[in-house]
This record gives sequence, structure tokens and C-alpha cells, in this order.
Amino acid sequence: MMFSRPSYPLIGAMLAALAAIALAAYVAWQVTRPVPIATVGSSSSLAVSPQIKIGGPFELMDHQGNRVTDADFRGKLMLIYFGYGFCPDVCPTELQNLAVALDEMGGTGKAVQPIFITVDPERDTVDFLAEYVANFHDRLVGLTGTREQIDATATLYRVYHAKVKNGADDDYLVDHSSYVYLMGQDGAFLTMFRGATDPKKIAETIAGYIDSRS
Ligand code: NI
Repeated sequence: MMFSRPSYPLIGAMLAALAAIALAAYVAWQVTRPVPIATVGSSSSLAVSPQIKIGGPFELMDHQGNRVTDADFRGKLMLIYFGYGFCPDVCPTELQNLAVALDEMGGTGKAVQPIFITVDPERDTVDFLAEYVANFHDRLVGLTGTREQIDATATLYRVYHAKVKNGADDDYLVDHSSYVYLMGQDGAFLTMFRGATDPKKIAETIAGYIDSRS
């Protein structure tokens, strides 16, 4: 033979090594990728896989210092947004949109309780939230709590949040998912809106849920 034949055992070992690397990469991706909880629905609201439960019992503190639970809001639709008071742009924009949507609904909007739940309870104290929520809507309720209470509530709503250090210990941003949740009078999940949804669409969608009850 003029040419040496390729070494099959060597190629086999290389293929096995590549397969092992690919498998490891796949497993790492499965573990770290965010769980998709929603796909784009037919309208502005999002269709959520029925197997995924969103919401549930929480116990927090409102911006007036009262202990509140989800049960305190029964009889109203809850319109819930998770964020944090020091958020430079996304949270203020979203809360402003919710306020516009509620005002758009006129009297019907009274059936809806807008709720802001902080994912940054260390800085968003009761006193801070009292001032913060007043910037957006006179009926907006701000909720904070212990780190454990907040984490438990965020988990129920599948809200991703993580501190991003920006220098000193108390100087940080918080990465967080930005969905608006609409919960029924019984506290059960109705639908959710992607961040930056047109307030008109939010108002229309909510009105549809209110109409369909009567
Ligand atoms: Ni934000």
C-alpha cells in the first residue's frame, strides 16, 4: 500500500469524544435555557400552555404597611406587574401603560385592581413604594415583603429576576421578565400580556373578560 489507511480506532475515539461533547452541551443547554411559558397568541395577549400553572396564594405587605394575601383581592380582577422601583425605564413605562389602560376603561376599570409587586424588596420598602406607586395611578397597590415571600410569589408567577451588580453593594440593576398578568375574580389565571403591549389592547382584552362574565 502506498498510502497508510486511516486509523479506524483513532477515528472511532474521536467520534466518541465529539458525541460526548455534544451530549454535554445539549444537557447544559436544557438545564440553563429559560423555560418558555408563553407563545404569541392570536391577539395582543399571550397563549399559555394549559399545563403551566400561573399564580397562587401569596402573603405580602402593601404600600401602607398592611399584611395582604391574594385572597384580599377576590371579587376583582388582578392586573399584576412584577418589577422594581429603581428600574430606569422598563418598569415605569409598563406601569404607565397599565394606568392608561385602566383610565381607557372608564368606570369598568374599577373592576380591576392594578398591583405592582417588587422583586427588589431590599430597596423597595413600604415607604418607598408608597411614594412610587402614587406616580402612576391612584388605585395602584404596591406590594413588598421579605426576600423569601417575594421569591415565593415570583416563582408562582414564573417571574425571572436576578440582581446585576453595578459596582457598590447597593448599586445594582435587576434583570427581570416583563409580563402583565390578568387574574380572575377567583384569583385564577386568565391571560397575560407581553411587555410594551398597547394600552388600548390591554383595555379591550380586559373588557372582554368582564363582558363574558355578565
Ligand atoms: Ni424593570
